[in-house]
Amino acid sequence: MNRFEELKKIVKEAGVIVKNGYAKTVDADKKSATELVTKYDKEVEEFLIGQIAPLYSEYKIVGEESFKGGKLPERAIFIDPIDGTTNFVHKFPHLGISVGIWSSGEAEEAIVYNPILEEFFYAQKGQGAFCNEQRLYVADEENLQNSIIATGFPYVKHEMGAEYWWVINSMQKLLPKIRDIRRLGAAAVDLCYLAQGKVNGFYEVNLQPWDVAAGILIVQEAGGVVSNLSGGKYSLEDNIIVASNGEIQSQLLNNLAEFGND
Ligand code: IPD
Repeated sequence: MNRFEELKKIVKEAGVIVKNGYAKTVDADKKSATELVTKYDKEVEEFLIGQIAPLYSEYKIVGEESFKGGKLPERAIFIDPIDGTTNFVHKFPHLGISVGIWSSGEAEEAIVYNPILEEFFYAQKGQGAFCNEQRLYVADEENLQNSIIATGFPYVKHEMGAEYWWVINSMQKLLPKIRDIRRLGAAAVDLCYLAQGKVNGFYEVNLQPWDVAAGILIVQEAGGVVSNLSGGKYSLEDNIIVASNGEIQSQLLNNLAEFGND
């Protein structure tokens, strides 16, 4: 079995822990006024690190619950043990275990697994993106007005700072120009739904590398594009991500607010 196949097996095993937790009433601790964490986030991350570290020993692991901050390593495995923790706690089945492998600013391998809906998304650079073995392609839609756009709201929204106003101003500008918005609650899975053609675009402010590291490759391998707010190459340190099927990318960028203008 090659290394990526072993990785898939590990992520599937982690899915059992998530599934068991989802069946129970879960107590959550608050990381901030709106950001939750549960014992399952920690348990899944510990399990994944223990299994993945020896398999990918030349990479450093950057996990949501254990990363201490600082510069991102050159070769890194970004782990979000439960992307969509709020959904997990409130029993909305839109969530995923996200594992993205990056080297020198490029994504190499990606897995996003939703064990509740049994959706297993994965991609390797240059080899296409898949969900449950089915090849994924972004939707062929050229018109922003016919597009469904997914987004999310930052955890710092209660502070009503620049991020909050960017969300509000962008919504005001964009909403009349599109078919509708979806705020589903798990950025990694939102990106997979873009890859699958369910939504045509996605944007969000303040995401962390582990939220998007895997989803980015899955979008790119399905034929989509991912950029920062200026339309340039997205780096995991950018504060705004804008992704789409490619055909509507410039229309989407033109209808988002400038950051910092409130
Ligand atoms: C969150 C989800 C959500 C997004 C938040 C993320 P988490 O991830 O992806 O959709 O709006 O900004 O932090 O905290 O549940 O892993």
